[in-house]
Amino acid sequence: YGDPSQKIDYVFKVVLIGDSAVGKSQILARYARNEFSLDSKATIGVEFQTRTLVIEHKSVKAQIWDTAGQERGAVGAMLVYDITKRQTFDHIPRWLEELRGHADKNIVIILIGNKSDLENQREVPTEDAKEFAQKEGLFFLETSALEATNVETAFLTVLTEIF
Ligand code: GTP
Ligand code: MG
Repeated sequence: YGDPSQKIDYVFKVVLIGDSAVGKSQILARYARNEFSLDSKATIGVEFQTRTLVIEHKSVKAQIWDTAGQERGAVGAMLVYDITKRQTFDHIPRWLEELRGHADKNIVIILIGNKSDLENQREVPTEDAKEFAQKEGLFFLETSALEATNVETAFLTVLTEIF
């Protein structure tokens, strides 16, 4: 995950937002450290992690903040809900409003339906989210931090678009 001696061409700040327990911290743990924990505790305070990657021969350091209220200066945002909890999807318009109120106008936003491994407990049809994302001009993916499905793709989508 990135050579620390490497020179950094760009630093991109990305924020993870959404209701509690949708899996923001585990998505970040999967992306930054390739780790996952089932007994993840609620995040208290301000945390971020970084991962350096190469995009078109430039090294990009992604600085990913695991909390709301850190939108200032962010160039990317991941708006996360849990596909097994309808309420977390119903709150997305509020998170989006808050984000658009505090962040840069050109911020790249991806809507993420996490816990796609729990298909048998699904409460949010993929089509509903796809439709919402299209209407609001957001990227959209379903992920599983547990199975590592689409986590890499989600970050790459945002970071490449910022670039
Ligand atoms: P806050 O810090 O309170 O805002 O919550 P969070 O969004 O950071 O949630 P967290 O990452 O702590 O995950 C909450 C719970 O969901 C934990 O028990 C995780 O192990 C579990 N979880 C996270 N991602 C997944 C996933 O993709 N699949 C499954 N099955 N469980 C997950
Ligand atoms: Mg957390």
